[in-house]
Amino acid sequence: MEPKLQVALDNTSLRDALEAIRKIGHVIDVIEVGTILHVAEGLEPVRCLRALYPEKIILADIKGADAGSLLAKQCYGAGATWMTVICCAEIPTMTGMLNVAKEFGEDQDVQIELYGDWTWEQAGKWKEAGLKQVVYHRSRDAQAAGKSWGKDDLDKIGKLCDMGFEVTVTGGLTIEDIKLFKDYPIYCFIAGRSIRDAACPESAAKAFKAEIKKYWS
Ligand code: 5RP
Ligand code: MG
Repeated sequence: MEPKLQVALDNTSLRDALEAIRKIGHVIDVIEVGTILHVAEGLEPVRCLRALYPEKIILADIKGADAGSLLAKQCYGAGATWMTVICCAEIPTMTGMLNVAKEFGEDQDVQIELYGDWTWEQAGKWKEAGLKQVVYHRSRDAQAAGKSWGKDDLDKIGKLCDMGFEVTVTGGLTIEDIKLFKDYPIYCFIAGRSIRDAACPESAAKAFKAEIKKYWS
């Protein structure tokens, strides 16, 4: 299956996020309300984007760590299709979100954001608990410190795919990076700055879609 393209709206105001999505909403598959935008504007961006894009997958990237069911009621109640939980959260936090997701509908789901140290033992427990989606993430700060994609990342992505997870990849992705992952059944690519900050965001989003199609169709 061809990987989806998700665009992260890590804007610092709702106005800027709406300005950004206006140019690319018709090209992309998943709209992400980025953590940075959530901090700036709470869940209002989710409500506005749901009103504007009733059919799209909308992800609330809150990177929740505790109080799973309470957070989930708010995210899904605002109109999110997916929400994120940080990988160091405890299993009951994750299942709390997942149970609320199921109450809201078949499409609702939880993505585990993989940051820092996590273990294969934890990954096995996520699977057992019914979590399907993981986001393999190179953090903004690691990227800024010079970390590039390497064999170690690809091996871990391959192993997560083999375990049966739907694996999303993100973290300063450029079009040139996409081919690095061509041997894996990637579920979704998330790009933020490479698309939002491009001279023509619409062309950049279309170029990402074309590059994905080149290797997965
Ligand atoms: C950072 C994030 C970002 O949304 C994600 O990394 C995509 O943005 P970019 O392509 O600009 O790195 O969750 O924590
Ligand atoms: Mg994000």
